Amino acid sequence: MAIPESFLDDLVNRSDIMEVVSGYVRLTKPSGANMFGLCPFHGEKTPSFAVNPERQMYKCFGCGKGGGVINFIMEIENVPYRDAVEILARRAGLTVPESGASDDYAEKRRRMLDMNRDAARHFYKLLSSPIGGAARDYLVMRGISKEIVTRFGIGVAPDSWTLLLDAMLKKGYTSQELLEAGLVRRKGGSGNDGGGRGSGGKDGSGNESSGKDSVGNEGGGKDSGGNEGGGKESSWKESRGTYDVFRNRLMFPVIDVRGGVIGFSGRILGDGEPKYLNSPETLVFNKSRNLFALNIAKKSKAGMLILAEGNIDVVSLHQAGFDCAVASLGTSLTAEQVKLMSHYTEKAVIAFDSDEAGKRAALRAIPLLEKTGMSVKVVDMGASKDPDEFLKKHGSDSFKTLIGRSDNHIAYRLQTIKNDCDLSSDEGRLFYLNAATMLLSELGSKPEREIYSARVAETAGISPGSVLAEVDRKLKVKTAKQRKDFEKKVTRPTAAALGADRAQREKNVYSAVAEEGVVRCLVLDPMLMRTASELGFSAEEFTSPFLAKVYGMLQRRISEARDVKEAFILSELDPGEASRLTGILDKPEALPNSERTIRDYIEKIRAEKFKAGVPDTDLLLEIKKYREKKDIGGI
Ligand code: CTP
Ligand code: MN
Repeated sequence: MAIPESFLDDLVNRSDIMEVVSGYVRLTKPSGANMFGLCPFHGEKTPSFAVNPERQMYKCFGCGKGGGVINFIMEIENVPYRDAVEILARRAGLTVPESGASDDYAEKRRRMLDMNRDAARHFYKLLSSPIGGAARDYLVMRGISKEIVTRFGIGVAPDSWTLLLDAMLKKGYTSQELLEAGLVRRKGGSGNDGGGRGSGGKDGSGNESSGKDSVGNEGGGKDSGGNEGGGKESSWKESRGTYDVFRNRLMFPVIDVRGGVIGFSGRILGDGEPKYLNSPETLVFNKSRNLFALNIAKKSKAGMLILAEGNIDVVSLHQAGFDCAVASLGTSLTAEQVKLMSHYTEKAVIAFDSDEAGKRAALRAIPLLEKTGMSVKVVDMGASKDPDEFLKKHGSDSFKTLIGRSDNHIAYRLQTIKNDCDLSSDEGRLFYLNAATMLLSELGSKPEREIYSARVAETAGISPGSVLAEVDRKLKVKTAKQRKDFEKKVTRPTAAALGADRAQREKNVYSAVAEEGVVRCLVLDPMLMRTASELGFSAEEFTSPFLAKVYGMLQRRISEARDVKEAFILSELDPGEASRLTGILDKPEALPNSERTIRDYIEKIRAEKFKAGVPDTDLLLEIKKYREKKDIGGI
C-alpha cells in the first residue's frame, strides 16, 4: 500500500514550496535567502514564518514548526499523509500510483467529486430550461442577476422525484454512488439521509426528515415527471424506492478552495421548512471544515472576509461588489472554519442576521476568530434583518460605510455585556465591571485597554483609574498562567514518539548534539557517508531512535544513489518529526571542515556512550521498537 518512493521524489520535485505556501500565506519581505510571512500555525502580528526556496523548507521561528512541502500540506489542511500527497499530486497534475485499499478511497473520492460536478451542471442547465421557470421567477424576485447565477453556478432542483437520479444513471453513475454522495435517498431512509448529523447552533438542516420538506410543495401539475395525483410520494417510493434528496430548491454548489464540487446547499423556493438543506457528511463533504463561497472570496482584493449567515446574503453581497463574503454551511462557526479563514485574511467582518440568534452567533464567533490573531468587526444593520435586505434598501455604498464605522468587537462586546446588566443596582454594576474588565484584560494593546477602561468607567460611574487597575490585575493573573502553559508546551512535545526521544536527548545532551551533527553533515554533503562507513559507524550507535531512523533513511538513499536533499527526507516524515529535523538542520555547520567535523561527532558519540555505559541491548531494543512503528501517516 506504500506510495512508491520514486513517485514521492518526483512529486516533491514538482511541488515548489514557494508556490504551495503562497496559496495559504502571503509571503513578502525577501530577507536573505528566505521569504517571510505570518505563520499560519500560530497567531502573530509580525512575520516569523520563513520559507527557503533553495532548500525547499519552511520554518517558523515563533512556534518552531517546520518541514517540507508535504508536511506543510498535512499541517495546514489538517489531513493525513496520504491525503497531503493526493492534494499535491492533483496540483502537479500527477496521479498517485494505484495500489491497495487506500487507493480505492482516493478513487472513490475522485469519482464522487466528478459526480457532484455533473450534478451541478445538471441543476445549472435546468435553470434555463422550461422546467426552471419557478426558480427563475424566484431569482428575479430576489433581484439576483444572471451574471451572479453563472459565477456561483446556481441551479435548480425542480419539484420532481427523479430528475437528478435519472440524469445521473444515464451518465453511468450507480444509485449506490448517488446515495453515498447524499444526492438520493432510499425509501425508509437509511443512514444516508440528507442533513446528516446536526452540528448544533443555528443548524437548519440537521433535523431534516424525509418527506417533511416536500409536503408543502404540491401545487399540482408543476411536476413534469408524470407523477401526478395525490399520494404521489408513497406510490412513487413503492415503485422505485430511490428518489432525489433535493427537490423544489435553488441549488448552490459548495465548492472548496481547490475547486472541487464537494456538496450542495439547497434553499427552498419561497417559504417552507427547512429553509436550507445541505448535503450530508460524505467522503468529500464536511460542513464544519468548509465555507460557502470561499473559493471565490479567497481571490478577493478586499483584504477581509465578510461572514454572513445565508447563501442568499452571500450572493447578494457579491452582487453588490463585496466579493469577499462567505457563509458557514448552516453550522455555527467552527474552529476549523476559522482556521481556514485565517489562511486568507487577518480581518473578519461579521454580518450575521440582526435577530437575537444572529447576535448570539456573533458573540460566539468573535473569540474564535480573535484567537487566530484576526481583527474582528461586527456590522450593525439597524432595522434591516440581514445584509441582503440592507443592500436592497440602502445600497452598497452605505454598506461600505457601515463596515467602515462598524464597531470593532470590543465595543460590540462591551455593549452586549451592558445590555445584560441592570446598571441601576449595585450588584448589576459589579457584575458589569467584572465582566467588562475581564474582557479588557484580554486585549493585547495597552492603548486599547486604556481607552476602553475609560468607557467602562463612564458607564459604571466610577473612576477610570480603578477600572484600569482591575484590568491590570486580571491581566497579570492571566499572563502568569499563559507563561506556564507556554513553558509546558515548549518542554513537552506533542508527538508521543518524539516525547520519548527528547527525554533521551535530555539524558545525554552531549551525545545528542553530536548525533544531530552527524545527520546535519550528511544532509549537507552525502559524500561524508563514506567517512562514516570507514569508521564503521551505524544507526545502532545513536541514542536517539528518531535520529537513528533518519540516519537509516539517509544511508539507504545514499546507497541507492538517490538525492538526500532536505526536502526529500522531510517528505517521509510526519509533521512533528519534520519540525524536529528542520530545527536540527537549521543550525549552521562548518562545511569546509566537514570530514573532520563528522569524525569528531562520531568520536564524541562513542566517548559519551562509553562514559554512560549504556547497555547496548536496551538501546537496540528501543530502536527496533521505533523502527516497527515507522509506517508513519498510514503508508
Ligand atoms: N443555513 C443553513 N445552511 C446553509 C446556509 C444557511 O442551514 N447552507 C442556515 C443558517 O444557519 C441560518 C438559516 O439557514 O440560520 C437561514 O439563513 P438566512 O440568512 O435566513 O437565509 P437567507 O437565504 O438569507 O434567507 P432570507 O431569504 O430569509 O434572507
Ligand atoms: Mn438572510
